[in-house]
Amino acid sequence: MRFLCTIILVLGVWYTPQAQLPELTDEQAKQIEELLDDMTTEEKIGQLTLFTSDWDVTGPTLRGNYKEDILAGKVGAIFNAHTADYNRELQRMSVEETRLGIPLLFGYDVIHGYKTIFPISLGESASWDLEAIEESAQVAAAEAAAAGLHWTFAPMVDISRDPRWGRISEGAGEDPYLGSRIAEARVRGFQGDDLAATNTLIACAKHFAAYGAAQAGRDYHTVDMSERVLRHDFLPPFKAALDAGVQSFMTAFNELFGVPASGSHYLLTEILRDEWGFNGFVVTDYTSINEMIPHGVVADEKEAGELALTAGVDMDMQGAVFYNHLRQSLKEGKVTEAQIDQAVMRILRVKMLLGLFDDPYRYSDVQRQEETILAEAHLEKAREVARKSMVLLKNNGVLPLSKSGQKIALIGPLADSQADLLGSWHAAGSAEDAITLKTALEDMLAPSSTLLHARGCEVEGEDRSGFPEALAAARQADVAVLAVGENWWMSGEAASRSELDLPGVQLELIKAIKETGTPVVVVLMNGRPLAIPEVDETADAILETWFAGTMGGPAIADIILGDANPSGRLPVTFPRNVGQVPLYYSMKNTGRPMEPNNKYTTKYLDVPNTPLYPFGYGLGYTTFEYGEPSASAETFSEKNPVEFSVKVRNTGDRAGRETVQFYVRDLVGSVTRPVLQLKGFRQIDLEPGETKTVTFTLTTDDVAFYRRDMSYGWEPGDFELFVGPNAQDLQSVRVELTSNKKSNP
Ligand code: BGC
Repeated sequence: MRFLCTIILVLGVWYTPQAQLPELTDEQAKQIEELLDDMTTEEKIGQLTLFTSDWDVTGPTLRGNYKEDILAGKVGAIFNAHTADYNRELQRMSVEETRLGIPLLFGYDVIHGYKTIFPISLGESASWDLEAIEESAQVAAAEAAAAGLHWTFAPMVDISRDPRWGRISEGAGEDPYLGSRIAEARVRGFQGDDLAATNTLIACAKHFAAYGAAQAGRDYHTVDMSERVLRHDFLPPFKAALDAGVQSFMTAFNELFGVPASGSHYLLTEILRDEWGFNGFVVTDYTSINEMIPHGVVADEKEAGELALTAGVDMDMQGAVFYNHLRQSLKEGKVTEAQIDQAVMRILRVKMLLGLFDDPYRYSDVQRQEETILAEAHLEKAREVARKSMVLLKNNGVLPLSKSGQKIALIGPLADSQADLLGSWHAAGSAEDAITLKTALEDMLAPSSTLLHARGCEVEGEDRSGFPEALAAARQADVAVLAVGENWWMSGEAASRSELDLPGVQLELIKAIKETGTPVVVVLMNGRPLAIPEVDETADAILETWFAGTMGGPAIADIILGDANPSGRLPVTFPRNVGQVPLYYSMKNTGRPMEPNNKYTTKYLDVPNTPLYPFGYGLGYTTFEYGEPSASAETFSEKNPVEFSVKVRNTGDRAGRETVQFYVRDLVGSVTRPVLQLKGFRQIDLEPGETKTVTFTLTTDDVAFYRRDMSYGWEPGDFELFVGPNAQDLQSVRVELTSNKKSNP
């Protein structure tokens, strides 16, 4: 009877559709119920167990005998196993040689491409182009799903405001609004509208939650924030992913409110299930159940597993805690059969939606794999997205370079590095497929041009022995292009830095080249905002290219040779130095806002408050002029939203794309409100001389927040509406939100 009640309860949740994805039919639901009835406790625990295969790992591997476990029905999901043949064989073992024949679920970190590697996620986010981001995820899914995979551990939707944290490279930057739109685009791209289609994967919103706020930017470090900050700034992209239909969530390594995320009933049940109605499954991050012991909230693994399952974890990644201890916990009554059943059902539901019970081999197709991987169209798309991700930070007119009659000195440790182009988490991407800037320029420059190449120095270290050759090349050239930055492994997981400068002697090299009198174009490759005021002072032009992927070299060449007009905008603030961190546009005003001539206002003695490059910033090869913005009315209300318009004109002589940004400030609230919040943006393409009017609509929902009593809603009063090309160069008008009472949307 108790079992029946559980099923009914679970079914109630199943039938709450998220997004417009197909749900289980009654027949499929029944099939799963019957299967659950047949399962032994050990087989059930197997479904809650995820092990890595021996392909590659991201931490200590606890187990080497996953094949035996498959045969014994003791593992339901495998990660890091890929390619059609290999996964087909593992699947065969599970389907044909185990008692119940339940298909395996194969996961992998397909973060910015499977084999055709796109720019790192932060780079793609700099495109602000939601369609391009969605298409990138589609390509990644198509390739991965042909190589035997069902599930990607992406998108990573952690907001981060600390460039020291290496994983800032994996997300969408600092802003919850932009981060939410990008989270939706990525989920749509990976999952499509049919989970059973053979070119889609299920997505995973990670790392739930607040991982991006690790203290001092040190990976895995403690997180401590107010609930209001959590809800305003860190949760929205997760909720957006959920509303877009994401089928899995991954826990975070960090603690929050004193409880490690993998043991947080508050996060995994109260918010995720009860408040948000999530009906997919929750996987832990790698061994994070075990890590609750060093966190100091449990004494041993058995207790850790009990805490995790009770909190709302469904699947244990690599920790073998459920595998080793859950049976005993059940015997002791520390967990219930119903809890285990619920987790099993959530996982079987997704396997069913993927179509694995119909055809467990549908995602392992050697021929499709061959046709799909590195397909011409995928490489072209990767090149296009890479171009769109690049941000022109400075240009005194030296760019674009002409393709003909030019002598170019290409210098720097990253000019010909295939491996670095791929960035961290490059899945099955191979360095040998990546095309460097050197190769691309050789290919794209006209015969009348000459390309000289000198490495100059390494990314790290003090070795200056390559300087003379680099200086000689620069002296002979019309322009020097310096590809500098970080090595690919300097960002991503476990890659925090305490300095944000260019490592090694790269700055020195830039300065030495500049002294030759030859104009200097700096091409940056890096996975985080860098604090590079001296590069800004020295270089004639700076192009931020992140780690641009397999087609990175041609995409950079497209921009510096003027075949494409750069249109990327920073999704994260670039500080002047590490001491300013955290520095983000959406800060609070304080009681003593900065006044240059008043010492006792909020500022530093040694650096301005302003960033080196603000959020939303980026140049192009043309210029845009904003007219005076206007609001459709002086007031707005719940029933009557206000429209806010501005005319934008291309004042240059090239076609270009502008990202028009809309920010809001709530001037008086029951709690302090940020000085600016992004509430919308529009990308417009303008021919020279062309003008377009861009209109944004502001509703009361857009200005809702967690008020003094933590109720969610808006408050009447004055608002300032801003529009402009970045978070610093803005024009505004004031409007009033009228109502006698506060409202709860
Ligand atoms: C990372 C996750 C990743 C997992 C599996 C962990 O170390 O934190 O983001 O998905 O490994 O590779």
